Amino acid sequence: MPPRVGILCSRVRTEEKLLFDAFEALGVTPIRFDEREIVARVGEFAPPVDVLMERSVSTSAGLVAVQLFEAAGVRTVNTYATSSVCADKIRTTLALAAAGVPQPRTEIALSPEAALQAVENIGYPAVLKPPVGSWGRLLARVSDRDAAEAIIEHKDVLGGVGHHIYYVQEYVQKPGRDIRAFVVGTQCIAAIYRQSEHWITNTARGGQASNCPVTGEIADLCARAARAVTGGQGGILALDLFETPDRGLLVCEINHTMEFRNSIAPTGVDIPGRMARYVLESVGVAA
Ligand SMILES: Nc1ncnc2c1ncn2[C@@H]1O[C@H](COP(=O)(O)OP(=O)(O)OP(=O)(O)O)[C@@H](O)[C@H]1O
Ligand SMILES: [Mg+2]
Repeated sequence: MPPRVGILCSRVRTEEKLLFDAFEALGVTPIRFDEREIVARVGEFAPPVDVLMERSVSTSAGLVAVQLFEAAGVRTVNTYATSSVCADKIRTTLALAAAGVPQPRTEIALSPEAALQAVENIGYPAVLKPPVGSWGRLLARVSDRDAAEAIIEHKDVLGGVGHHIYYVQEYVQKPGRDIRAFVVGTQCIAAIYRQSEHWITNTARGGQASNCPVTGEIADLCARAARAVTGGQGGILALDLFETPDRGLLVCEINHTMEFRNSIAPTGVDIPGRMARYVLESVGVAA
């Protein structure tokens, strides 16, 4: 009996189409779960799958759904423990620090006054990020105290509760690009450079993808960072890395439901195939 695989997604993006195809190629037809349709009676929810791959575009809905499936005894990729760390830049940063993984200097502050102090400590330019967020949204690079005061006041007055926690980071002078590394288990299977005129290099914001050879340094850093945020067991992750002249590679952040459509052609790696195989292996099937 092949394992029963579920894929959680509301929107079927290119990535999810590729994942469904990858499972089919391995002889498994996944069941799609749309988190908007889940009505789970507590204690009785029994989805008919052995393993769930979480691919929701909604971070918060994905995190809840994964807990429901885990409570029902379903194996999950990624697990709630991993996803909840990666979904939160503060938890990611703390986990990386505890494991001694190099990252940009970061300060956390819990009031506008403390946030301004954190920016001054970090020095200019500094980057302010919402602790939860993606696609580079609401990232701010502040070049002087006036800009810092304005951003912090806007967050304080106009922002929701999530914006009243301040994640302040040194601005890393990147060489016009950063590295997006794809990890399956704890192994870096592929990486791309994301080149951009803009300091925010996400491909969703126009960054150009090209192949980045997986060096020993990248492989080693990815393995250490992946272990740090997964309690040692590994997962399916995408790491953003910065190259620095004096400190080697730094880990900027770790994503747990990454997009990868722009990375297959430049790297020549069957990223969805590797992901699907890992999911099957997680329930003991040698794929
Ligand atoms: N401290 C920094 N110094 C220099 N550039 C940065 C810094 N932080 C972020 N960036 C740039 O902004 C991009 C987005 O930052 P980050 O990955 O932290 O945000 P995100 O919104 O979570 O993105 P994602 O879509 O990858 O989840 C990075 O890939 C990088 O190009
Ligand atoms: Mg990122």
